[in-house]
Amino acid sequence: MKRFIDLATLQRDEVLDLLALAQRLQDKPEPAALAGRILGLLFFDPSLRTLSSMQAGMARLGGQSVVISPGQGTWRLEWRDGAVMNGNAAEHVREGIPVLASYCDALGIRAFADGSNLAEDLSETRFMSMAELCEKPLINLESAMNHPCQALADWRTLDQLQVAPPARFVLSWVHHPRALPLAVPAATLTMAAQRGMEVVVLRPEGYALPEPLMAKARRLAEVSGGSVSETDDRAAAMAGAQVLYAKEWGSPLHYGDAEAEAALRARHSNWMVTEDWFAGARSDCHFMHCLPVRRNVAVADAVLDGARSVVRQEAHNRMVVQMAILHRLLARRTL
Ligand code: CP
Repeated sequence: MKRFIDLATLQRDEVLDLLALAQRLQDKPEPAALAGRILGLLFFDPSLRTLSSMQAGMARLGGQSVVISPGQGTWRLEWRDGAVMNGNAAEHVREGIPVLASYCDALGIRAFADGSNLAEDLSETRFMSMAELCEKPLINLESAMNHPCQALADWRTLDQLQVAPPARFVLSWVHHPRALPLAVPAATLTMAAQRGMEVVVLRPEGYALPEPLMAKARRLAEVSGGSVSETDDRAAAMAGAQVLYAKEWGSPLHYGDAEAEAALRARHSNWMVTEDWFAGARSDCHFMHCLPVRRNVAVADAVLDGARSVVRQEAHNRMVVQMAILHRLLARRTL
């Protein structure tokens, strides 16, 4: 494996191999496996889990990491080709990324959606323009439409919970004060389809996920034996559900138009997960969320603090699976 950019590009046996390695590294730690290796972490956007779990995972394998957060003690970086750089950015990624990569053995990059042009963000224009500049192994730490480390951690969490396909997996839109990116819903949708779940996307009108993302999930479900559907009917979606995965995202209908999007979103402030959402679900229905989460806006305290919630387990699994990814990318093989 040279890059970890999109979980959906991995064959099922490759995913299972990574998950098995994650378990092996947990059972039998290898504190020197990455001795002498250096990971560069380029964070254009904020993080709690991704940054700390990558650094902790690298350290637990004996390696080290260098963190660059452009504009916070380092130069602001421009990424657009042909940009006239007379604004805040002092350096272009065309120099910055190859230089950083030359100091390191692998790079991880977090660069959210630009948020103004849906077609460009669906094409991953920003992330891929940077990926092309990196000749070293590369990890996607969240791009416009993907968060593969989160998806792999969530797959492991589902395995640990013994949620066996084709269990019903409801991915539900929930309210947030701002229009959030599509990366996590996209990655969650495709992960669940790839894993063979009966995936139901529950969302209010105006929040349907873009068709290219749904089509990708349907293609994965065809291979895995799962299915993908969508509805705005909460009771129908939750009937028999074994997992409710809540996520906030902005309306694709008003992409790049903050005012129109906010007006639409304000009509759905009652989309906050409360215990009564689970009335028709299986009694053991689990609650998932990638975090960070706004308590009592997106999800009620009682759900997050209750027995259904596995959000901390998901977050812990971030470090566990990322150690497997780092090991695959960077461990020296003995012939
Ligand atoms: N879930 C996740 O990626 O969390 P952070 O944004 O804190 O890294």
